Amino acid sequence: MNETSSPKIIIAIDGFSSSGKSTMAKALAKRLGYRYIDSGAMYRAVTLYAMRHGLLGDIAALVSHLDNIDINFRVNPDGSQSTLLNGEDVEREIRSMEVSAHVSDIATVGEIRRAMVKKQQALGADKGIVMDGRDITTVVFPDAELKIFVDASDETRAKRRFNELRAKGDSDTSYEQILENIRKRDFTDTHRQESPMFKAPDAVSLDNSQMSIEEQNDFLDNLVKQRLEGIRNESRR
Ligand code: CDP
Repeated sequence: MNETSSPKIIIAIDGFSSSGKSTMAKALAKRLGYRYIDSGAMYRAVTLYAMRHGLLGDIAALVSHLDNIDINFRVNPDGSQSTLLNGEDVEREIRSMEVSAHVSDIATVGEIRRAMVKKQQALGADKGIVMDGRDITTVVFPDAELKIFVDASDETRAKRRFNELRAKGDSDTSYEQILENIRKRDFTDTHRQESPMFKAPDAVSLDNSQMSIEEQNDFLDNLVKQRLEGIRNESRR
């Protein structure tokens, strides 16, 4: 896709756990020459910090450490992206089942959310960004030019995550454990008091249970094209 002459926009993507958001957002950002930010990785990095410092049971102490938690992203020479926690590449560790088991509880904490949202908004200040998460369309970028809400059945999502973990060499986690974790996180993410996940009224729904990657990419490219055309027409008026 060649959109170089187009205005840069913010593309906000929310959706359930393991719905393929990240893969899809990353590929879309690449096609557009945009930056991709995985907001979930930030909550995962805070969770890893809490685990390492024995702070999972002491949220007040964890909150008081927030100023010492520096989270950044790095694009590697092979094009992959790493999450950096105080300069250390923790990309692999933050995807572990142990982090997955605690992250949604950590993500319910208002002070932690506010610190992450501030950082996410700063990252999007120049637009030209694709960000995915749970509250990106509703809280982080409520005025994003394009909003997408992704879903797929929980079994499809568990199967995807199972294959992903197997491909990364994790053979300890069973499909049933993953399905249970996904269902638990879905519940916590949609029922928490602070910025619960819901579909923004102006977000486009995408259920990709039955879609191939190519079909999904076409769907997204068309959406972006239409939106950019709309913006160009609006600015001509
Ligand atoms: O990889 P997966 O889609 O399962 O999750 P993730 O995007 O890595 O996010 C991990 C967890 O962080 C979610 O289950 C949420 O509890 C939390 N999260 C959030 O609360 N708000 C965001 N913007 C992103 C993630």
